[in-house]
Amino acid sequence: MRRAVHGGDVYGAARELGRAPDRLLDFSASINPLGPSPAVLRMLSRARTVLCHYPDPLCWDLRQALAAYWRRSPQAFIIGNGSTELIHLLPAALRIGHLLVVGPTFSEYTSAMARSGGRVSTVLAGQTDSYRPRLELVLEAMRQAGRAGTRSRPLDAVLLCNPNSPTGVAWEAGAVRTLAREAARLGLWCVVDETFADYCESVSILGKTLPPRTIVLRSFTKFYALPGLRVGYAVASPVVVQQLSEQQPPWSVNMLAQQVAVAALQDDRHRRRSLQFMDRERIRLQRGLERLSGVRAFPTKANFILLELPVGQQATRAVSVLRRQGLLLRDCTHVPGLNDRSLRVAVRTRRENDRLLKALSCV
Ligand SMILES: Cc1ncc(COP(=O)(O)O)c(C=O)c1O
Repeated sequence: MRRAVHGGDVYGAARELGRAPDRLLDFSASINPLGPSPAVLRMLSRARTVLCHYPDPLCWDLRQALAAYWRRSPQAFIIGNGSTELIHLLPAALRIGHLLVVGPTFSEYTSAMARSGGRVSTVLAGQTDSYRPRLELVLEAMRQAGRAGTRSRPLDAVLLCNPNSPTGVAWEAGAVRTLAREAARLGLWCVVDETFADYCESVSILGKTLPPRTIVLRSFTKFYALPGLRVGYAVASPVVVQQLSEQQPPWSVNMLAQQVAVAALQDDRHRRRSLQFMDRERIRLQRGLERLSGVRAFPTKANFILLELPVGQQATRAVSVLRRQGLLLRDCTHVPGLNDRSLRVAVRTRRENDRLLKALSCV
């Protein structure tokens, strides 16, 4: 059996290298380096009772907690087994047969469309624009693809990852709202993946009323450092939430995950510490990477940095050399729109980042 993975496969790497997973430094998945909130760890130690019951199928408490956090109705939230589950529910739930993806970006959107037999068009930002997509070009692509008379199936939806992975580029909330409003005007769904927006809430569109036909995806994986528990959520109108829930397998979010996510969401102190840490360490790592000869480090709003190695080097080779030293990096060679010198590194703790800088300078 083989499964495509995006990074973060510490178990596979540990088997291959004959090391314990905790002997590896994983820069390939961008998880909060401070780890989960201490409240989460306390909750886990008390969680024995939840193992003997089926999980709450409505994820009631977590939806109430999210409703209070975002000042919205609990009916506007659906919880998924990671946001990945929700990405895969979208095509069938909303009858999306043709999706316009703004790239270069995360490949799971295309996988979800392939799985449902749908089609993907892309509008790609180029390296000369530092991979920042231009709003006018995306609007133009939406109008073109939606136009009657084109031979292929008209467009049903547009998807923007904001901040985007793996480029780290983020649009301001105003630009995202313009995109969403234009999508609604054209009768399209607008999906905004805000999985990394906890690190830059000002770019999120969740602060205000959502335009019609807009779905926002969020996750507890990255900022809350809970990738192993699998919790994500979507925010949309109650009608859309109902449509999504009709496609979801029963009990897909386990009870431990639901309870721990509530504890994580309510720990404001850990949130502030994590943001302060990331603001400092991201700049320090960025500067360190820029000092490596010929390496280009793209500006980022998230907790990872896209790198381009000097001409003549290949990301695949560098990733493989560092892997043998126990450092896992994300090779972005095969992300459509990026070149074979592109790789992504997570911002980890100061000491771990120094180890990465040292290892990269030898490569
Ligand atoms: C942009 C983006 N969206 C969504 C996901 C899925 O996250 P999860 O399913 O862990 O919530 C990822 C994971 O790598 C991601 O990078």
